[in-house]
Amino acid sequence: MIGSLNGTSPEGWLDYARLIQDAGADALELNFYHVVTDPNQDGAALEQRLLDVVRAVKAHVRIPVAIKLSPFYSSFANLAHQLDDAGASGLVLFNRFYQPDIDPDALDAVPRLQLSDSGDLLLRLRWLAILSGRVRASLAATGGAHTCIDTVKAVMAGAHAVQMVAALLLHGPSHLAKIRRELSHWLEVREYESLEQAQGSMSLLRCPNPEAFERGNYMKVLQTWRAR
Ligand SMILES: Cc1cc2nc3c(=O)[nH]c(=O)nc-3n(C[C@H](O)[C@H](O)[C@H](O)COP(=O)(O)O)c2cc1C
Repeated sequence: MIGSLNGTSPEGWLDYARLIQDAGADALELNFYHVVTDPNQDGAALEQRLLDVVRAVKAHVRIPVAIKLSPFYSSFANLAHQLDDAGASGLVLFNRFYQPDIDPDALDAVPRLQLSDSGDLLLRLRWLAILSGRVRASLAATGGAHTCIDTVKAVMAGAHAVQMVAALLLHGPSHLAKIRRELSHWLEVREYESLEQAQGSMSLLRCPNPEAFERGNYMKVLQTWRAR
């Protein structure tokens, strides 16, 4: 059982981390869900604060600590490596920010919860593939995993774990049993001995076409578009 914590103050992170550990959690996920609107806050200071919180929580609890992040850092791979060095046991990619909409008649901002779909997974696949085999921390995918094939893709990109929320809200908890059945069948038909065998097989380090995850592929992708 993994406790998830989104703190706001230094004491809050530490106190609740300890409380979650003492309540029996096997591990802790620190969720850095924070939209910075103050133009005086610079990115480097923000990242430093994040690293300070991770180091402080690590020193305060005995259980493994994973970090759930947003993709909006200027050099995500660098931050991931710094978190790895700071002792993060896991990196959870990525927070999904819920974007407010605008009601133009009411002149109001409208909070809107739009659940993910499988398209949201692509951003996660790219960064899982980039980090896989390059950090000691375990990698978890969150955002856009809805089907058995989504799960296979996340694992092939490098995920050691796949989180699923929207799919379970839409289809109920029995969806998990369905995914497990389909996954066993998928692996058996393709003669995989275990899911582990597929883990990281499409990472940047091992994929036959690594440039697909990088900028170099941009022109090729644009040329694949055809008007219907
Ligand atoms: C109704 C709802 C409540 C959520 N509450 C939390 C939360 O308390 N803490 C958290 O880290 N993420 C929370 N999330 C985000 C999910 O953990 C997850 O990152 C996100 O839904 C993307 O995954 P999905 O595509 O499987 O839904 C919530 C999502 C939904 C839809």
